[in-house]
Amino acid sequence: MTAYEHLQPAYRQYADLDTDERIAWLRADRWLETSQATTVIRRLEDLLSYPPRDRMPCLLIYGETGIGKTKIIRKFLRDHPPRFDRSTGVTTMPVVAMQMPAEPIERDVYGELLNALGAPGPQYEAAWRLKAICRSMMRDMGVRMLIIDEIHAVLTGTFRQQRIFLNVIRFLANDLKVPMICAGTDLARQALLTDQQLAERFDALHLNRWSNDKNLAQLLSSLAGILPLREPSDIGTAAVRQRVLELTDGVTVRIFRLIETAAVEAIRSGNERIAIESFTGGELVLPLISMTRYSERQLQRRIAR
Ligand SMILES: Nc1ncnc2c1ncn2[C@@H]1O[C@H](COP(=O)(O)OP(=O)(O)OP(=O)(O)O)[C@@H](O)[C@H]1O
Ligand SMILES: [Mg+2]
Repeated sequence: MTAYEHLQPAYRQYADLDTDERIAWLRADRWLETSQATTVIRRLEDLLSYPPRDRMPCLLIYGETGIGKTKIIRKFLRDHPPRFDRSTGVTTMPVVAMQMPAEPIERDVYGELLNALGAPGPQYEAAWRLKAICRSMMRDMGVRMLIIDEIHAVLTGTFRQQRIFLNVIRFLANDLKVPMICAGTDLARQALLTDQQLAERFDALHLNRWSNDKNLAQLLSSLAGILPLREPSDIGTAAVRQRVLELTDGVTVRIFRLIETAAVEAIRSGNERIAIESFTGGELVLPLISMTRYSERQLQRRIAR
């Protein structure tokens, strides 16, 4: 008989590790295919294969903090890594992802772009010089998509800075003839909407919170199949889903942290499994300060009434 039949075969070996090793395993970064993430990635793949034309489609991926936007972008980047061709000495980079600079200043935007291209540039060059360098590097490196994360940071600028920054975005989208993807919180949408032309260019894709449906059931059951616990967990029930949603409000990062915390607790206590009791006990320590106990919130509501 195979041990740990409740786990996917590739993950069974981890259940035999000792306590510390298993806890370290739980805390490591990993990627899980979720239904929304798959939808977004398909959309990105589709845009990547778009032939160049005058007006390239642009996409805004928005949703609240911790919903998984950056995680999706990183996965997409891993799927389309830069390649160095030894025979020609040329690096191609199909997808470039840059961060927003701390302040939405034109020169810093090009500086970040050069960083993302692996060519941290001469910082004190004038904006128009940096712009020209970015443009020619992107052509030479065969860039087919530009992603800018944390686009909502534009709103930290003065009104004038915001206008200039949106002009830069418009320039990049028009001039480079590559699809541009922006990601950010719900404020990002607001930021783009302030520019009529950009508002017409960008399709918007909203990432929703989790709800009590088959997608959440699927997420929990795939987690149950990989967590290094020695007994089969019972997290496939509607009651568990309900409880998880109460504690996390359906925000991805909170769900992952909650399950991770429950799994660590299951290892430490020797229970070796997660079930509804893991989320109802008085000792349940909520992993993030953004999370509040449902009962506490209900209590407050009752007091407020
Ligand atoms: N598909 C996934 N697989 C595994 N973990 C995930 C996934 N999506 C989200 N997470 C977890 O949630 C955390 C937050 O995700 P992410 O950083 O992508 O959020 P975000 O939407 O970019 O938030 P912010 O707006 O604050 O930047 C990740 O660090 C990871 O722990
Ligand atoms: Mg992010």
